[in-house]
Amino acid sequence: MDVHEALYTTRMMRRMHEDPIPLEAQARILDAAIRAPNGGNTQRWHFLAVDDPKTKAQLAEVYRLCRAREYADIAAGGLAKPAHDPVAHAETMRKIKDSGDYFTEHFTDIPLLLFVFAIDDHGGANIYPAIWSALLAARAEGIGGVITTVLRYEAEQVMELLEVPVEAGWNMTAMLALGYPRGRWGVAANRRPVQEVSSRNRWGQDFGVTVDEPLWNGVPEN
Ligand SMILES: Cc1cc2nc3c(=O)[nH]c(=O)nc-3n(C[C@H](O)[C@H](O)[C@H](O)COP(=O)(O)O)c2cc1C
Repeated sequence: MDVHEALYTTRMMRRMHEDPIPLEAQARILDAAIRAPNGGNTQRWHFLAVDDPKTKAQLAEVYRLCRAREYADIAAGGLAKPAHDPVAHAETMRKIKDSGDYFTEHFTDIPLLLFVFAIDDHGGANIYPAIWSALLAARAEGIGGVITTVLRYEAEQVMELLEVPVEAGWNMTAMLALGYPRGRWGVAANRRPVQEVSSRNRWGQDFGVTVDEPLWNGVPEN
């Protein structure tokens, strides 16, 4: 797959088929992920794949509770606000909530939960290149997924369940949910354009180029 197609169309997919992801595909995803840059090449990362139905059922309950707490925090105004038009963002949040509801209801049907752990991840900088590479590699396989961090509300409980050696400094960064998507791939168009989020030489000075439409405009492979 063309790298630009993968970059432009790797949307977060929360509606998936139950079909399992073959082990060979899982190997290709992680083998791509571990090529990612990381500070000092210390590779203090660990990827824990969960496909056991009983474990998924236990995690589903925790996920549901964590999500309720996150939405309570959102309602109380306790989470980060968008840096742009709040009306447009409210519509985005409504869509995320709808697909998130579906995701939560079908949690135990998700074929693969990939937990990502790191030691001293530099505020995420040291681990997100690998996470994004995993998602791009999955995209090349026709596999979709979503990054979730909501389990942070009960990180201790989750790490205990998964027998993570926390005493060695491991922390849970994210849970990726992976599967063959029910929806179609498309360009992530709901983004503020380059000129609105960039400047040159001084903050707020004109970046010098205007991009009115996504610069990759092919037809996504599905
Ligand atoms: C650090 C991070 C944490 C996220 N956490 C969650 C989450 O807990 N649950 C969820 O459904 N989506 C989560 N997302 C996905 C975002 O909601 C998604 O990227 C955003 O809505 C844009 O969606 P799109 O790429 O499909 O356009 C997370 C994304 C990132 C980068």
